[in-house]
Order: sequence, then structure tokens, then C-alpha cells
Amino acid sequence: MRPGGHRSSSAVRAPAPVGGSAGEAAAQFFHVSKSYVAGTYALRDVSLEFGRGEFAFLTGPSGAGKTTLMRLTFAAERPSEGQIVVLGRNASRLSPRSVPALRRRIGVVFQDFKLLARRTVEENVGLALDVVGTPRRVARQRVFEVLKQVGLQHRRYQNPLSLSGGEQQRVAIARALINEPDILLADEPTGNLDPDLTIEIMDLIAATATRGTTVLVATHDQSILDRFRKRTIRLEGGRVVEDRAATGAGS
Ligand SMILES: Nc1ncnc2c1ncn2[C@@H]1O[C@H](COP(=O)(O)OP(=O)(O)OP(=O)(O)O)[C@@H](O)[C@H]1O
Ligand SMILES: [Mg+2]
Repeated sequence: MRPGGHRSSSAVRAPAPVGGSAGEAAAQFFHVSKSYVAGTYALRDVSLEFGRGEFAFLTGPSGAGKTTLMRLTFAAERPSEGQIVVLGRNASRLSPRSVPALRRRIGVVFQDFKLLARRTVEENVGLALDVVGTPRRVARQRVFEVLKQVGLQHRRYQNPLSLSGGEQQRVAIARALINEPDILLADEPTGNLDPDLTIEIMDLIAATATRGTTVLVATHDQSILDRFRKRTIRLEGGRVVEDRAATGAGS
């Protein structure tokens, strides 16, 4: 199910990925390039497809374009060339007004958790819900459920700074999952964690894919790739140099 060989613009209007209907794709990249600085490319001619509920790793050396690919998926950047279709929307041409609606369907986890120090765990996780005007009682119940999912319901009134690194990252994951996103993007989510916590956090992230969320994880960590054996896309110098199918049990 890789969209290799599509001609960009016509392919976007009538995508016909090999082996599946367009409705099943969470994100499709058609010959996407991104240049921040004239003459240099952060991504170059990338064509990829991510299915609904698929789990994929992005790997490759520093500067390869992993974060750029995620930011394009999240419509935080626009491609310089090519087309990106995310959840059926053409993210390359989205009007600024349409961006928030798309983003609500995408959860994001970063290496540095970016939790708000002056708010409780509960408030941090519920922030995205407040924005869409969910009634308070419903919001608190939803926050409780998602904190339970990451095993932190008992910490909900604490300040995030009083939690361990792994706990803080679990709060960040809960926050990303609060709106039951169709896509979860995790950029080096275990970069600051020790090996045991890394596995714990990766198990948690992998579990969200089994519930139907498309999960994309950027990582340098070869031990994670070896352990989880999911689809692995290797970028180098902005190009996809390898796209290896999952080999793990149950994949
Ligand atoms: N906002 C920006 N302005 C200019 N250049 C940028 C910008 N963001 C990224 N780049 C450049 O684009 C290239 C790809 O960067 P990107 O952050 O996507 O790589 P990465 O694979 O995520 O690297 P790392 O493993 O270090 O996080 C790099 O050469 C980087 O310097
Ligand atoms: Mg990066």
C-alpha cells in the first residue's frame, strides 16, 4: 500500500493507492519536498502512505527530516512541492481556518513534554477539551478515563513537575489522546527516558494503534526498532532510503 509512482496533482484528486481504497489512508504524501532555506532540502521527493490504525517508525540520522515530516502531517508546515492528504483533507492547501479542526484529530507528543507547570495534571490533559467547549463534568470524566489509560488517575491533582520523567511523558501522551485522535505523532517520545521507562512508554504508544489510531514515532533508538519490529521508514538527507514492513508477531 505505498503510493510510489503517483503523479502528484492528479493523484491527489483521484488517489488510487495500490491494494486499498483512499478512504483507508490516514495520511498520504505525494512527491513531497520541503525546503526551509533556498537550495537545501529538509525533505526531498517523499511519497508515502500511512493506513488507518497503522504503526510506523521514522528513523534516520539527525537532520534527516523526521521532525519535518511530522510537522507537515500536523499542518505546522506546508510542503514546498508535492501534495499531502491527511484524513482526507489536502493539508498542502488547507485554509488557516481549517487547520484547528484537522489538528483536533491529531495528537502530538514531543521529547520535551511541554507540560504547563502552573496547572495540575488534570488541567494539562484537559486543556484541548476546554478549547472545544466540552461541558466541565464530561471533560473531567474524559480526563479521568484517559489518565487511567496511562495509569496516572491517582496523580490528577498534582503538579506535573512533582512527577518523574516517565510519568510526565505519560501525562503528555494522555494529553495527546484526549480527543481520541485518528493520528498520533510522537517525536522522540523516549529521548529523555531510561531503558525501562522507554519500553513502558513505547508499549503505551503501541497500544493506541491497536485501538485504531494511526501512530507515527520518530526515534534514533535502534533498541526500540529491534524490539517492536514495526514498519520502519528510514530517512537520510530528506529522502526515504528504506521502507521496511513490520516483522513482529501480531503485526
Ligand atoms: N525551521 C527550520 N528552518 C531552517 N531549517 C530547518 C528548520 N527545521 C529544520 N530545518 C533543517 O531541515 C533538516 C531536517 O531537519 P529535521 O528537524 O526534520 O531533522 P530530524 O530528522 O528531525 O533531526 P533530529 O534527529 O536531530 O531531530 C535539517 O537540515 C534542519 O537543519
Ligand atoms: Mg527531529
